[in-house]
Amino acid sequence: SQQNSKNAQGLVGLRNLGNTCFMNSILQCLSNTHDLRDYCLRNCHRGDLGGNCRAKAALMEEFAKLTQTLWTSASNEAISPSDFKTQIQKYAPRFMGYNQQDAQEFLRFLLDGLHNEVNRVTVRPRGPAEDLDHLPDDEKGKRMWSRYIEREDSKVVDLFVGQLKSSLTCNECGFCSTVFDPFWDLSLPIPKKSSGEVSLIDCIRLFTKEDVLDGDEKPVCVCFLFRLIVMINCVFLTLFDLLQLKWADSGGNSVFLSAANAVYSLYAVSNHSGTTLGGHYTAYCRNPALGEWYSYNDSRVSPMSSSQVRSSDAYVLFYELATSSRM
Ligand SMILES: *[C@@H]1O[C@H](CO)[C@@H](O)[C@H](O)[C@H]1NC(C)=O
Ligand SMILES: *[C@@H]1O[C@H](CO)[C@@H](O)[C@H](O)[C@H]1NC(C)=O
Repeated sequence: SQQNSKNAQGLVGLRNLGNTCFMNSILQCLSNTHDLRDYCLRNCHRGDLGGNCRAKAALMEEFAKLTQTLWTSASNEAISPSDFKTQIQKYAPRFMGYNQQDAQEFLRFLLDGLHNEVNRVTVRPRGPAEDLDHLPDDEKGKRMWSRYIEREDSKVVDLFVGQLKSSLTCNECGFCSTVFDPFWDLSLPIPKKSSGEVSLIDCIRLFTKEDVLDGDEKPVCVCFLFRLIVMINCVFLTLFDLLQLKWADSGGNSVFLSAANAVYSLYAVSNHSGTTLGGHYTAYCRNPALGEWYSYNDSRVSPMSSSQVRSSDAYVLFYELATSSRM
C-alpha cells in the first residue's frame, strides 16, 4: 500500500503517553504545514535564534527534531513525543502531567512558545506610540501591522498571524471608531439551525454579522476587515469579500473568496469526539508531498478519502492560501 511505500514520508504516528492525544493531534497538523515543516527540516530555526543561544531555544529544537523524525524516519513505526512534552511543559507548566487538555489552547501556547524563541526582533522599539487615529483606515491598518512586526516577527508570525479590523459606528453621531488587532486564530461561533447542516460559511457569516446592541447603547455597525480569515498566508479581505464567500466543496474542501479571487484550502483538521471529559482527539491531514489525506489516531496512521473529511464538524481547521490574484 501507499502507506508502506518508501517514498511516503510523514506517515508516522505519535505514541499516546497518557491522555496526550490533544498534543499528538496538533503536532500532526503542524507537521503537515508545508512551510513550517520545511523550516524544521532545513534547520532554518537555528539561523533565527537572534540573541538566544541554542539552549534557550529548547522548545523549537525539540519541535524541529520531532518534525524531522516524523519526516525522515526509515520505518513507519510510531515515535514517542516525550522529549517534546518535557519542553512544552517547561514552557507552559499547565501541560505537566497526563490530563486531557484543550487542543486549541495547546496550539496557542505552542505557537507562542516557538515564536518567542525564533523572534527576529532582539531589541524592541521604545518610546510612546504615535497617534494614528487621524489616518484613513487602510493606512492605519498598515501602520498598526508594522508596529506589531517591529516587536513580533518570526517564521511563525509569517505563517499564522493576521490582522482583524473591527469598527463601531455610532448611530447617533455617525462617528466610527476602528481598532486593529493581530490574531493567531479565529474562534467562530456556531449558529443554531433548525434544519440542515451548519457550514463553515454560516459560522463566518455569524462572526462578521452586524451586532445590534440593546438598551442605551446605540452603536449598530460592526464590520470586520481581515488580513486573513484563516490560519496561514495573507491577503487583505473586506467585509464585502466575506459576504461573497462561496463554499466550494468539490471534494477539495476549499473556501473560495470571489472578490479577492483567493482560494483557501483545508489541509489539516484537529478533531474532537466524545464528551469534554472522556473525549478523544485525532487529526486528519493532507500529506504535502503526496496530496492524499491520512487519519492520525495517536500511533495509528491510515489513508482516508478527502470526502470523509467533514469540515463542518471539526474542532480546529487549518487552511492555507492556495491561489490569489492579489499575490
Ligand atoms: C482511534 O483508535 C481507537 C483504538 O483503536 C479506536 O477505538 C477509535 O475509534 C479510533 N478513533 C477514530 C476517530 O478513528
Ligand atoms: C469529527 O468527529 C465527529 C465525532 O466523532 C464526527 O462526527 C466528525 O465527522 C469528525 N469530523 C471530521 C472532520 O471528520
